[in-house]
Amino acid sequence: MAAIRSFVAVELGDQVKQRLAEIQRQLKATAPSGSVRWVQPDSIHLTLKFLGDVPEERIGALVAALERTCAPVAPLAFAVAGAGCFPDARRPNVVWIGVEDASGQLRALQQAVEQALNPLGYPPEGRPFKPHLTLGRANRSAPVADLRKVGELVSRLEVGRLGQVEVAEIVLMRSDLSPAGARYTPLAHIPLRGAGA
Ligand code: 2AM
Repeated sequence: MAAIRSFVAVELGDQVKQRLAEIQRQLKATAPSGSVRWVQPDSIHLTLKFLGDVPEERIGALVAALERTCAPVAPLAFAVAGAGCFPDARRPNVVWIGVEDASGQLRALQQAVEQALNPLGYPPEGRPFKPHLTLGRANRSAPVADLRKVGELVSRLEVGRLGQVEVAEIVLMRSDLSPAGARYTPLAHIPLRGAGA
């Protein structure tokens, strides 16, 4: 039976994506060429949970569990602001734009997703949830000095508040890898149906 590489995500609005594209262009113009594999701005999303290869016949059960979990969760919003690198600017592996979850509702949603999927054989990751929007990933074969330069550029960026993302649904996403980059296709949209405060 075929396996589908999948993850649970929040999609972004067009305005925020445009702002991310501007910052990405700025970085692209100054970063050493070939040092970073940039994510297509239209593909940028917030990952809540990475699942990896899921047997095709399990997808229905995952969607049902997510629907049950999301039914009582109210729509929420988060702000997009700041930039940084994982694990840090001296050894950048991921270049990201930050997410501010002042209300804690995004974290609560992420925990609800973990709780929904844990009994289906997808245990929580050991590391804490650090919500972020990945702009690009370091090219592993790039010289260390080039990657340091990328880290410096990101540290010097002044990224204020880029916008607000309204979350009324989450998405179970399929990821198809290819040398040209990952292609993401929604498998299911799962609405947040709670009444809110
Ligand atoms: P990232 O944005 O922080 O790289 C699809 O691959 C999405 O799942 C990406 O947004 C990626 O997050 C996330 N993800 C989390 N853990 C992953 C892993 N072990 N392998 C690949 N992607 C992962």
